[in-house]
Amino acid sequence: MNRSLQPIYWDGAVVVMVDQRVLPHRQEVVRCTSVAQVVRAIKTMVIRGAPAVGIAGAMGLVLAAENITAADPKTFRRKFVRACQQVAAARPTGNNLSWAVEQVYSVLVENPEAEVFELKRLVRAKADELLKADIEGNRAIGRWGSKIIPTGANILTYCNAGALATGDYGTALGVVRAAHRQDPSIHVYTCETRPFLQGSRLTAYELMWEGIAATLITDNAAGSLMQQGKIDVVVVGADRIAANGDTANKIGTYTMAVLARAHDIPFYVAAPRSTIDPVLTDGSQIPIEQRDPEEVTHFQGRPVAPKGMVAINPAFDVTPNRYVTGIITEVGIIRKPFKSNIRKAMES
Ligand code: MRU
Repeated sequence: MNRSLQPIYWDGAVVVMVDQRVLPHRQEVVRCTSVAQVVRAIKTMVIRGAPAVGIAGAMGLVLAAENITAADPKTFRRKFVRACQQVAAARPTGNNLSWAVEQVYSVLVENPEAEVFELKRLVRAKADELLKADIEGNRAIGRWGSKIIPTGANILTYCNAGALATGDYGTALGVVRAAHRQDPSIHVYTCETRPFLQGSRLTAYELMWEGIAATLITDNAAGSLMQQGKIDVVVVGADRIAANGDTANKIGTYTMAVLARAHDIPFYVAAPRSTIDPVLTDGSQIPIEQRDPEEVTHFQGRPVAPKGMVAINPAFDVTPNRYVTGIITEVGIIRKPFKSNIRKAMES
């Protein structure tokens, strides 16, 4: 493991990823020297979490650029565009991946006369810039978000929107980290998050690593805890937010939002603006990734359902904007009316 919980970093010319499939019991890394290896790592969840996937995509494009041997800019551009398409298609729901690909590709558009060596340098510089900006943005999300956490709060979070899901520091867990610095008495309930168990494996690990008081619950325990008055606020991450504030996040997030509303508990989404897709007018247009049903019928290769059982595995759901109290971004908390306030935040 790296010194921090940073999930992806350079080792010379190699992209190194903390293997999130085997955490917390094994601390292993996957080393990538080609864009194909990065795409595979994204698809197989070695790295996951929308912002981290975006950064991985950008770093994969650096590898793609470095591995193109053509000296003539036209051939380089053609091959690079193909790599951009492969990376952007690796996972469909998170906006950050296609956003990061567009950011890196913009280097080619803005430098139409550049030689290949110069384009390679610019691609690397852009990927480094995206990583740095993500971490700075998350710290800002933390600062804004800590303002909405009551003293001694019991916070419920879902999935993993922590350092491991971003460049570092996290979005929803960035809020928790920043709040904990000011008030060490806060406490977090983390839902285990079936079927990939991002909550019990990754969020629990991060919270223990950070020394933040936390309790692991099954996903189905959340409603009962809310009913007993044990949750003060819900903070989750996001994979894609439509222009009206409808929010795609890990499957089960919608359930938490409805439960929160039923119990008058504020429900916040923490995400950088790179997660917002201003082109989509509402959440019905967000593509939902359907993953292998075997992730449901099996756990880490071992069957948990009868052989031949039919299962479906939508990886994300969409929470309608009416259930969202606010969207905590790096430029402030966006509140209702979301449509106009999201537009202003995107312009700022
Ligand atoms: O399938 P995953 O693990 O990539 O899903 C992750 C989530 O849903 C996170 O909540 C989201 O990406 C935000 S991470 C800052």
